[in-house]
Amino acid sequence: MLRTEYMGLELRSPVIVSSGPLTQNMVSLGKCEEAGAGAVVLKSIFEEQIESDVQKEMAGSEEYLAHSSAEEFFAASSRDYYIDRYMKLLTEAKKKLSIPVIASVCAKTMDNWLEYCGRFEKCGADGIELDYYPISSDSSIPGEEVDRRLIEFAQKARDAIRIPLSIKLGYKYSSLAYVISQLDRIGIDGIVLFNRLFRPDIDIEKMEMSSGKPLSSADEYGEALRWVGLMSGEMNHASLCGNTGIHSGESAVKLLLSGARAVEVCTAVIKDGFSAISGMNSFIEDWMGRHGYPEPSDFIGLLSQEHIEDGWKWERTQFLKTIS
Ligand SMILES: Cc1cc2nc3c(=O)[nH]c(=O)nc-3n(C[C@H](O)[C@H](O)[C@H](O)COP(=O)(O)O)c2cc1C
Repeated sequence: MLRTEYMGLELRSPVIVSSGPLTQNMVSLGKCEEAGAGAVVLKSIFEEQIESDVQKEMAGSEEYLAHSSAEEFFAASSRDYYIDRYMKLLTEAKKKLSIPVIASVCAKTMDNWLEYCGRFEKCGADGIELDYYPISSDSSIPGEEVDRRLIEFAQKARDAIRIPLSIKLGYKYSSLAYVISQLDRIGIDGIVLFNRLFRPDIDIEKMEMSSGKPLSSADEYGEALRWVGLMSGEMNHASLCGNTGIHSGESAVKLLLSGARAVEVCTAVIKDGFSAISGMNSFIEDWMGRHGYPEPSDFIGLLSQEHIEDGWKWERTQFLKTIS
């Protein structure tokens, strides 16, 4: 039995398919469910993408845009087109799937998003995952201010959204421990640690910027493991979810032992197909059987910082021994 509870939702398995290419159409969403996923997070709707697509459409309709009110009307209806398309997928997913369906919003400002989240709530979304990870490249803004803005953003979202709400974080905050504990304090239900952010690269022949590898590798789960291990014992309300580099049942078990109630996976399913999900479930079940744990709740967090004598190891950053 793999049942777990994450962000107040009952999941049949702790393995969630994270927001991405596998959760953007009904065919692959159905395959996620068939393979045993505990929940799916729909591909995010991106504020930036909508805005740039709206701008492109507007550029092709200049005559129509002679009046500023027409421009506003056109922009609003194009924006609605993207939101409506998203709501159609969400409604269909809710109709056809029996596992929880979490809508995902990648927001830069809070202006329109609260209203959109309200619409997703009405379509029956079981929860909303908000992605918010600005790169703090403005050297005049101190770390405290960066953290304050995130917490303010989360508070506004919490006040407006009544269904389970999670925040998916990147790990570049000035005080991650403070940020995570404040998200817990204001009643965020789930905290996903961590999204794998777009990585820039440079093409040295073309002499231009390019994009780094979009997929994670199997040894990238360490940062999520560390922060879940450090923070899970401090959570009063929020449940933590591990993400990035979880490619196997083995790394999923590690995250659960450190205190995650669930894991989100993307790369493993892209690389190995939907059977990666059933493979992880079988591994976790088999491991639980061998170690005598009837349910994930019997072992979740057993190796978190607060549960082990040498919990200081979760904070270790230096190697004591060198490789000879
Ligand atoms: C092609 C691609 C598209 C993605 N799109 C989104 C997205 O729309 N929203 C989001 O929150 N994360 C997105 N992600 C990030 C994944 O959900 C996940 O956080 C990340 O890939 C780390 O997990 P992994 O190591 O299992 O791949 C995307 C990842 C990939 C590879």
